[in-house]
Amino acid sequence: MNKPYSESCDQNREPILEVIQPLLNSSKKVLEIGSGTGQHAVYFAEQLPNLIWQCSDCAQYLPGIRSWTMAAQCANIAEPVELDVTGHWPNLAVDAVFSANTTHIMHWHMVEALFAGVGQLLPSAGRFLLYGPFNYNGCYSSESNARFDAWLKARDPQSGIRGFEALEMLGRKAGLEFVENFTMPANNQLLYWRKQ
Ligand SMILES: C[S@@+](CC[C@H](N)C(=O)[O-])C[C@H]1O[C@@H](n2cnc3c(N)ncnc32)[C@H](O)[C@@H]1O
Repeated sequence: MNKPYSESCDQNREPILEVIQPLLNSSKKVLEIGSGTGQHAVYFAEQLPNLIWQCSDCAQYLPGIRSWTMAAQCANIAEPVELDVTGHWPNLAVDAVFSANTTHIMHWHMVEALFAGVGQLLPSAGRFLLYGPFNYNGCYSSESNARFDAWLKARDPQSGIRGFEALEMLGRKAGLEFVENFTMPANNQLLYWRKQ
């Protein structure tokens, strides 16, 4: 099969790596939720050889992810697993979770399931790193994010850019302590939680 391709993954992978590398320096195994094409997984696994990168996504994405991971032949990428956050979570021993550009695609009940699942999966001091566009105090962080949100909602009214404060609340309910907000290029953020 032709490998699926996302241009934004090529554009954002280096700034994301710069932030996550120090945050994952003591991690052994990272679960990625919503791996999409699989491009991030291959790049991050190659750049972070001391940990195992576990990709996951809904079933229909797995063949595309495999086409990237098999071509890369990277020893530290685990076989991708099916994980719909609203369904059964596979029994995985991981000490960190990474997810990019997922919460504005997921419906709100899926975002709730994401946080609850991450809270249950992570051991004490485990890290949750969430990349994407977010709103603060009900405001868009740019005109382009406002236009993006309108586009998302026209396509799927239950999707849309999520408010940081609501995510922080979900984190608290799931036993995740918010630690830091990293401002990223192109009006994105990387949010960092730690399991209590
Ligand atoms: C915009 S894509 C982002 C893909 C990739 N992480 C990236 O940054 O390019 C959104 C991803 O969220 C995933 N997703 C949506 N709903 C999901 C759910 N209920 N459980 C798990 N993943 C979900 C999609 O399958 C898709 O891979």
